[in-house]
Amino acid sequence: MSFKVMGVTAGRKDSNSEILLKESLLACQEMGAEVTLINLRDYNILDCTGCTSCTIGMSMGKNTGCSLKNADDKQRIMDVLLNQDAVIFSAPTYELMPSSLFLKFMHRNLAYETAFLTKIGAIEPRDRVGALIAVGGSTRSWQSMALECMQITTVTNSFKIVDMYMATMVPAPAQVLLYDEKLARAREIGQNVMKALNTPPAERKWLGDPEAGWCPNCHSNCLCLGEPQWGGLQYPIECTVCGAGGDLVKTDDGKWKFVIAANGLERDRTTEEGRGVHCDEIADVQGGFFMDPTKRQTVAERLPKYQKITFKGI
Ligand SMILES: Cc1cc2nc3c(=O)[nH]c(=O)nc-3n(C[C@H](O)[C@H](O)[C@H](O)COP(=O)(O)O)c2cc1C
Repeated sequence: MSFKVMGVTAGRKDSNSEILLKESLLACQEMGAEVTLINLRDYNILDCTGCTSCTIGMSMGKNTGCSLKNADDKQRIMDVLLNQDAVIFSAPTYELMPSSLFLKFMHRNLAYETAFLTKIGAIEPRDRVGALIAVGGSTRSWQSMALECMQITTVTNSFKIVDMYMATMVPAPAQVLLYDEKLARAREIGQNVMKALNTPPAERKWLGDPEAGWCPNCHSNCLCLGEPQWGGLQYPIECTVCGAGGDLVKTDDGKWKFVIAANGLERDRTTEEGRGVHCDEIADVQGGFFMDPTKRQTVAERLPKYQKITFKGI
C-alpha cells in the first residue's frame, strides 16, 4: 500500500509556491507516494464566522462539525486532506505572514480539531506528517512570522511537521526557476516527508536542520515573554508556536539559547495532550459563561448600550 501525500498551496498559479510544492511532490511520487495537489485559489473558502458552534458542541461532548460545511468547499477538501498520510503546505508571504487565503482556509480547522474530537471520543487518533514551504520576495527579516503562522495552523489537525523551508528573494512570478538550489531544497522536503512516513510514528523526528530556529521542540524562530496562563502556569520565556516554556541561557561561546524548563512541555501545543489542556480552558471560560445565568444576564443588560451606539461608516 502506497502512502498518500497531498500538496496544498495558496500561491499564484504556475508561480513560486506552486512550483516548489510540485518539486517536493515529484520527489514523493518518485518514492512511491500517491500524490494529490490543490491550489486554494481554485476553491470557494469562506471565513470562519466565529459562531463557535463547533467548540460549544465539543464542550458538551458532541461533534457538531462546522456550521459552514454545506456553504463552501472546506468540508470537501478536509474529507480528502484528513485521510492523507502527509500534507505539504506552501504559501506566499504577505506582510511577514502567510497570505490571507492560506490563513482563511486554515482558521476553519477548529471544527476539525483532532485533540478535542479525540478527547470526546468522536474520532480515532491518526498520525499525520506535515512539511511547510513559505515563499517571499525578501529575506527572513521580511518573512519573520511566515513559517511560524503556517506551523501553528497545522497542529490543529495533529500534523507532525518534520521539515520547513523558507524560500527567500523570489518576488516575481516563477522567479524561483532561476535557482536550482531552491528547487533542490524543495525536493529534499519531499524526501524528508517520505523518510518520516517510512519511520514508525513514535520514532518520527524533525528532519530539517537540527539548529533551525530558537525552539528545540518545534524549531520556530519566535519567542515571547511569558505571562500567567489559564490556571496560573507561567514561564519566563515561551515559544510563540508550540508554547514550550523555559528561559534564555548564555552558552560558553557567548550566544543566547532557549532552554526548555523541566515542566516546559506541559502544554506543548504540538501534542494532543497539550492541546487537550486548551480544550479544558475553553470548556471552563466559554462553557462557564454559557452555563452561568448571572454572567449571561449581566452581559444582556450591558449590551444594548453598545448596540445603540453608531458612528459614521463609509
Ligand atoms: C500584498 C503582498 C504583500 C507581500 N509581502 C511580502 C512580505 O512581507 N515579505 C516578503 O518576503 N514578500 C512579500 N511579498 C512578495 C511575495 O511573497 C512574493 O511575490 C512571492 O513570490 C509570492 O509567491 P507566489 O509566486 O507563489 O504567489 C508580498 C506580495 C504581495 C502581493
